[in-house]
Amino acid sequence: MRRFLVKEVHPCIHASAHLCVRRNDHAPRGNPQCRRELSFIMQVLIIGSGFVGRCLAVRLASEGHDATLASRHRPAGLAPELAWLGLDAADRDAFAAVLHRLRPDAIVLVHGPSDISLCEYSPDEAMCSHAVIARNACRLAPHAYKLLVSTDNVFDGRQESYAEDAPPLPANAYGRAKLAAEQVLSQCSGDFLIARTSLVYGWEEADRGWINFFALALRRLAAGDILEVPDALWNTPIFVEDAAAIYTRCIEQSVMGILHVAGPQRISRLDWARLLADEYELDASLIRPIAADASRYFCRPRNSCLSSHHLPALLSAWPNVQCRSPAQAAVHMKPLLHGHLPINKE
Ligand SMILES: NC(=O)c1ccc[n+]([C@@H]2O[C@H](COP(=O)([O-])OP(=O)(O)OC[C@H]3O[C@@H](n4cnc5c(N)ncnc54)[C@H](OP(=O)(O)O)[C@@H]3O)[C@@H](O)[C@H]2O)c1
Repeated sequence: MRRFLVKEVHPCIHASAHLCVRRNDHAPRGNPQCRRELSFIMQVLIIGSGFVGRCLAVRLASEGHDATLASRHRPAGLAPELAWLGLDAADRDAFAAVLHRLRPDAIVLVHGPSDISLCEYSPDEAMCSHAVIARNACRLAPHAYKLLVSTDNVFDGRQESYAEDAPPLPANAYGRAKLAAEQVLSQCSGDFLIARTSLVYGWEEADRGWINFFALALRRLAAGDILEVPDALWNTPIFVEDAAAIYTRCIEQSVMGILHVAGPQRISRLDWARLLADEYELDASLIRPIAADASRYFCRPRNSCLSSHHLPALLSAWPNVQCRSPAQAAVHMKPLLHGHLPINKE
């Protein structure tokens, strides 16, 4: 027996050539702006229990869905209320056994390898992991909706920004591996969404070797350490809670096609670091510009920036889903980081 959730949905959500949002035509009509939609409580299997996957699991659970995280190792500090199972999703038989057990309505591919610099040193491993896991998901679960969290690194970054209809042309091994996974899904017969996502940021513990730029910058500056910042890298970063909320609505409404999921502002890493120093009253003189080419950022596109033909309309149709600028997210996070950072001292 399936259980239902009741959600507010805007009536003008529509299908287009690149993006398709399923309408629930049997839903009762509400006021002129919104109608209420009955939506299943979904069983969602999240392949990848890292920074993004875990935040998505929290959001899905908070919306009443059954989310299960899967990865090869149990992540340190995993909240006890989150369901997790051990799985190497590249292992076809093991993946099949998990699918047989869970019978998910939706599968989210949000696994590693995610370190762009490490992928450059191990391109075969990156290609194998991303393409093979996508192929396994398509072949083993043809009827499940699939959401692939892809990347702006499928573009070479010569342009300031890229919308959904721009032709991909990756300039690094990570981008080529993620594009290969996209192509697997595109040839898959079932329903899927390729959610190309820009740099995802938020607070995180340093348990995966490296941490996102927001957390790194605040940790370094708060500790009084030098923060080296690549001088010519631009991003459209998205706050992790906002990305998780957007993915959740996409899963509930089976949004299909290609969607660019990025923050509303194109910002350089230097300006972002200075913004954080200013907001959190930290010493901006610790911020040191360095040449991106001579740093661990050597293989990053100059512009890791996305725009979207579709996201603004979806956001305006989805109550309780927002997409904050770096300044808005910094303000939002400030009271939550008491105890983590020496900020707001009298
Ligand atoms: N973070 C971003 O800014 C960002 C932006 C755009 C796109 N993305 C995409 O989002 C995905 C996740 O990013 P993230 O930042 O959350 O990465 P992350 O923190 O490094 O997490 C990656 C997760 O994948 C798991 N994993 C790796 N290989 C696996 C396998 N064979 N089977 C099952 N699980 C496996 C890892 O656990 P084990 O090693 O224990 O298996 C880990 O839990 C990546 O694919 C990345 O391309 C991220």
